[in-house]
Amino acid sequence: MDEFHTANKENWEERAVLHPDTDFYDVDAFLAGESSLQSLEREELGDVSGSKLLHLQCHFGLDSLSWARDGATVTGVDYSEQAIEKARELQAETGLDAEFIAADIYDLQSHLDEQFDIVFTSYGVLCWLADLGAWAALIAHFLEPGGTFYIAEAHPYMGTLSALDADGTAQFDYPYFHDNTPERYDADGSYAAPDASFDNPTTYQWYHSMSDIFNSLLAAGLDIEFVHEHPFGTFKMFESMEQADDGWWYVPGLEIDLPFTFSLMATKPE
Ligand SMILES: C[S@@+](CC[C@H](N)C(=O)[O-])C[C@H]1O[C@@H](n2cnc3c(N)ncnc32)[C@H](O)[C@@H]1O
Repeated sequence: MDEFHTANKENWEERAVLHPDTDFYDVDAFLAGESSLQSLEREELGDVSGSKLLHLQCHFGLDSLSWARDGATVTGVDYSEQAIEKARELQAETGLDAEFIAADIYDLQSHLDEQFDIVFTSYGVLCWLADLGAWAALIAHFLEPGGTFYIAEAHPYMGTLSALDADGTAQFDYPYFHDNTPERYDADGSYAAPDASFDNPTTYQWYHSMSDIFNSLLAAGLDIEFVHEHPFGTFKMFESMEQADDGWWYVPGLEIDLPFTFSLMATKPE
């Protein structure tokens, strides 16, 4: 692991200890039978029952276990040992059909020798990845011929902004296009634990444009089935956002539609 990945992993180990106790994740609701998944991915991916599903960057496994509750046989992967320990605890408590591997996804081939009907990943994953070409290649490697890849993620356009207000004022602070040198952040708090103070607050994040995402998957031999851009967030991406009655997050009063979220499905040719 290089210095960037090491710093990021140390920060994720801390987040993984804090996140299971946050309202954002609401583990009690999950244990009471609610799905942690958004309706977006559940509707777009459709019926997963009977499928073997590989969840990349699964954090502490709530979404993985929710797919298992929907009938899939799930393997979740994350490089945070703390996250995987918690995921295994939740699996033991619920008895759901899932197993978890603590590994860097870039090193997954030395831990896992299987293929899957579905490879899934979502929300807050791409910015931690330096190399989308290698990412797409590993997705293609782990898919059965005819298998499906699905991602729902914050739209790369939103990654350029540090603030967006109701009057349309936007603070463009970050690049849209990829650079091999990541952006350094020194910040306490996370999307789920905003008041947290970290021993390891430094992270390094990479930007990936929409074209880089498509082209990496195409170069890995996958067929893109659809790309959808959504005018809502699936979580509070900016201070100004509020959750509407439909469950999605918007900037109230913003009169123009902007792409907050995208989802993409691709298949591996038979
Ligand atoms: C924002 S979280 C994903 C959140 C997920 N959507 C959820 O809400 O549970 C990103 C995850 O990626 C993991 N991660 C980052 N880089 C990784 C890598 N190279 N290999 C494996 N896991 C990685 C982190 O440990 C973290 O759990």
